[in-house]
Amino acid sequence: MNESTNFINWCILFECDSGIIDEEHKQLFKIANEFYNNIKEKKGDNAIYQTLNELTKYAQDHFSHEENILKDTDFPTSELENHKQIHANLILEIFSIHNTQMSNQLGEVKRFLTNWLIMHILIEDRKYLKYLNTP
Ligand SMILES: [Fe+2]
Repeated sequence: MNESTNFINWCILFECDSGIIDEEHKQLFKIANEFYNNIKEKKGDNAIYQTLNELTKYAQDHFSHEENILKDTDFPTSELENHKQIHANLILEIFSIHNTQMSNQLGEVKRFLTNWLIMHILIEDRKYLKYLNTP
């Protein structure tokens, strides 16, 4: 994939733990870029839905992994419950776009992914950073 066609590029603003959470967020970006490029390059429904499924599955695994990490920190239980609820809503949102005909909706998908992924990392994930044991 040509770097210049990436929808989102990793930068220091997204950093959370310089570890596994960042690695998984980077992987989410990678799949989101593939998904976005498949639509942009009109790769067809099969390729588009394959990357959407991959994004959904990876997000589910990542969210539960992140929740498990947070469970072992001093992140307050009420905030963790709130964060889990936000993750559950994000999964519902991404499931809801599985019913969308995406081939001609590049702008919509871009807006969706921006709110769905980028805003979550930049706003919600920031709230647990001080509880992580990072170097
Ligand atoms: Fe999160």
